[in-house]
Amino acid sequence: MTVTPDLDSLNARALPRWYDEAKFGIFIHWGLFSIPAFAARLGNITDAFKKDYDRAVAMTPYTEWYANAIKVAGTPSAEFHRANYGDAPYEAFKEPFLAGLKNWDAAAWAETFRDAGAKYVVLVTKHHDGFCLWPSAVENPKQKNWFSSRDIVGELARAVRAAGLKFGLYYSGGIDWSFNREPLRTMGDFIGSVPGGRYSAYADAQIRELIARYEPSVLWNDISWPADERHLFHLFADYYNAAPDGVVNDRWRTVTWKSKLLRFKFMRRRFDTRYKDYIAKNPKALEGIVPPPVPHSDFRTPEYAKLPAISAKKWESTRGMSHSFGFNRNDAEADYAPFETLLGDFLDGVSKNGNLLLNVGPEADGTIPTPQMARLKSFGAWLRANGEAVYGARPWTQAEAVTADGMPVRFTQKNGAIYLIVLGSPSGSEIRLRNGTLEGNGRVLADESPVNVHLEGEDTILNFVSPLKGEFAPVIAIESAKSVS
Ligand code: GLC
Repeated sequence: MTVTPDLDSLNARALPRWYDEAKFGIFIHWGLFSIPAFAARLGNITDAFKKDYDRAVAMTPYTEWYANAIKVAGTPSAEFHRANYGDAPYEAFKEPFLAGLKNWDAAAWAETFRDAGAKYVVLVTKHHDGFCLWPSAVENPKQKNWFSSRDIVGELARAVRAAGLKFGLYYSGGIDWSFNREPLRTMGDFIGSVPGGRYSAYADAQIRELIARYEPSVLWNDISWPADERHLFHLFADYYNAAPDGVVNDRWRTVTWKSKLLRFKFMRRRFDTRYKDYIAKNPKALEGIVPPPVPHSDFRTPEYAKLPAISAKKWESTRGMSHSFGFNRNDAEADYAPFETLLGDFLDGVSKNGNLLLNVGPEADGTIPTPQMARLKSFGAWLRANGEAVYGARPWTQAEAVTADGMPVRFTQKNGAIYLIVLGSPSGSEIRLRNGTLEGNGRVLADESPVNVHLEGEDTILNFVSPLKGEFAPVIAIESAKSVS
């Protein structure tokens, strides 16, 4: 069905099934910033805003914001840059980055992601630094040849598809530091920095070029979109008509007279005063980032955050394995979230209609850092044994429960079976579930051993024929389940 450039038509289009069924994608933040691979260490992204609001954007843990951070004198990044690269501008990282690609093997990445159990890959094609990972034919009027001569996007797209995964792309539509070179310090600066002038035509031409060349199945824009709704809806309709399996995320806030006011410094300061006040009064406001809803999107994108309950609207949480998306040279094993946390958050999301877009931040030469590789392998091992409860599954009527000894439980369902996932490492031959409402025939996914599921007063009891051995996140499928609630 042809989609027309109006909200009714855009919003009437059904979410392509593959995206809901896939559940697990890999995000890749890789670029010139992977060479310095450095950021301040105030904690996570929201800690930077809590602890040092007036220069938080330059004190971010995100290494991909390095080009901005070094513009703000006195920050750890500015000092690191001076000590290691002297007066060299950020642009000087281009040649070494391209030279360092000689051993990069897109096929090896794609196999790694497939073996981790991912079903799609979203590559950053242009981050806030404006540097393009494909040889764009759209001329950047502000910075000559600000792109990779090697077609990184094309090589990865082919390799990912050859491995049987869907390929999507990220594009920083709202921020481009080759167009707007002002140093950014505060939230007001950040969201008010959408470039004007020729940038809107540039971004439109680039995203259309990306769609035509690489036929992405996911269009993952960041921050905002530098045009009005009329242009945006045309873009969406053209994209959907070219890519029947395509999905778009929710970070497409358009330019309005209100957003243009933030181009004035005094308006940004006014915004900051109010925002600081809001943060102070709402401590929960900064537990991760949840972009506000927009008139049209296929899924929402909480960042280092999750939605707390089953959401009818599809969503996808995203995070780096440490506090940064881009590789950080100073991240040691202890700076990475444990596998159990990442997997537990993933399964919590799946039980509530969420996907996970887990980020990989490779080193400049394409090496995937050991702690990240280890986590990908653990995901792969778990999903090989238990993927039945995840791929193609839907939320059940209830997302959460808890065992008698306090272990969180999450549910999914598929083809009449209910999957009970214990977010802990239970051992032994019995699990007692508080507020249990289930009975039926069960089996442990990992070894297909039978489980007897019956009610005892207010509780559901699961009796294992083959005792659980303390592995993390075992899954019990309950077929012909009678939900007695
Ligand atoms: C953000 C950031 C960024 C990262 C991203 C991923 O808004 O600015 O560095 O690419 O979103 O969700």
